[in-house]
Amino acid sequence: MTATRSLTPLDRVLADVQNALDTVFGTPWAQRPNPGANEPEVVLDEAERRHAAGLMRINHVGEVCAQALYVGQAAVARDAATRAHLAHAAQEETDHLAWCAQRLAELDSRPSLLNPLWYAGSYAIGVAAGLRGDGWNLGFVVETERQVEAHLDEHLQTLPAADARSRAILQVMKDDEARHADSAQARGARRLPPPVPSVMALASKLMKTVAYRI
Ligand SMILES: [Fe+2]
Ligand SMILES: [Fe+2]
Repeated sequence: MTATRSLTPLDRVLADVQNALDTVFGTPWAQRPNPGANEPEVVLDEAERRHAAGLMRINHVGEVCAQALYVGQAAVARDAATRAHLAHAAQEETDHLAWCAQRLAELDSRPSLLNPLWYAGSYAIGVAAGLRGDGWNLGFVVETERQVEAHLDEHLQTLPAADARSRAILQVMKDDEARHADSAQARGARRLPPPVPSVMALASKLMKTVAYRI
């Protein structure tokens, strides 16, 4: 991620635009090795392959949204330490994004066609959360990460039993997301008031239903 201290506002806007284009249209580059790389590639039957691809497309969209949220939140975060924390989390999300993209290609599938929309919507939500102050910003991270952790758990149970490569990726992602939530909590996250968590859960349910297919 980009260091922010000596950047002008225009530099930061351009860096955000670059991140959006890289996330949606580029080939993300992971800093850590793909956790599934050492697992055997088993040939899945057609129904299993399509199901695994649907789940990995959802996870890929989730990571597109995570990039956009964190970049949007960091754009308006007031405290430099919070900004740096969000930027660091976004780098780990880039690893997740790259691994999900690799797995989708291995499964002969593709990312969601609606990724530009998912990115734009999540960026707007990130900015809106960020403008309410750093306590909210961190509270939003905690809620997002906890919800992602829960759905990764669900995917770990519903993936085809033979798909060890996807499972290995999701397991590391789940551990990372739990750590992101814990560290945001430790930095002074506010508890989000109702109905924010339920609205977020509803939005993510909609995303999952659509992204499984499109
Ligand atoms: Fe992630
Ligand atoms: Fe995360």
